[in-house]
Amino acid sequence: MEARRKIAVAGATGRVGRHVVEVLEAGGHDVVAMSRSSGVDVVAGDGLAEALAGVECVIDVATGSSPEQEAATEFFTAAARNLHEAGKRAGVRRMVVVSIIGCDRFTADYGAAKVAHERVMLAGPIPVAVLRAAQFHEFVAQLVE
Ligand SMILES: NC(=O)c1ccc[n+]([C@@H]2O[C@H](COP(=O)([O-])OP(=O)(O)OC[C@H]3O[C@@H](n4cnc5c(N)ncnc54)[C@H](OP(=O)(O)O)[C@@H]3O)[C@@H](O)[C@H]2O)c1
Repeated sequence: MEARRKIAVAGATGRVGRHVVEVLEAGGHDVVAMSRSSGVDVVAGDGLAEALAGVECVIDVATGSSPEQEAATEFFTAAARNLHEAGKRAGVRRMVVVSIIGCDRFTADYGAAKVAHERVMLAGPIPVAVLRAAQFHEFVAQLVE
């Protein structure tokens, strides 16, 4: 069996975040669920230092409310810098960020914001793995509408 680890999930209540939490808990890990509803704001930094105490790994699946390029870029770059800064102080050893397949082919919109997200994440002091996922099934209904 895998060793029990303390893992923080940023965006723990989201479409993907809630499944990440479920899988980690089923694997016996100690999960710190981070979202504004649990008092942790990765953009403003509120509650981040306390949440990351003793955490070994952070999985970043947080996203802001706006898909517009400028707002999304501001969200992701601020969150990435804060996660690195607070994570470094807390002794976090690695981070995983969920991105989107093919985002580097976009020069505008949300895809470009994801490229900026990846870039700032990969530039920080903590080793980061980028996992590019396909669009989730929930978007089919939105597209049809
Ligand atoms: N959806 C897709 O099809 C898809 C595909 C590939 C990759 N991705 C990537 O996967 C990630 C998650 O996407 P999603 O669709 O699961 O997002 P989502 O359902 O909109 O969930 C966003 C999460 O972020 C949290 N959040 C928002 N602002 C926050 C803040 N300032 N501080 C802390 N937490 C905050 C939200 O909780 P609160 O509101 O309580 O703070 C929520 O838990 C994103 O990076 C996205 O680009 C998504």
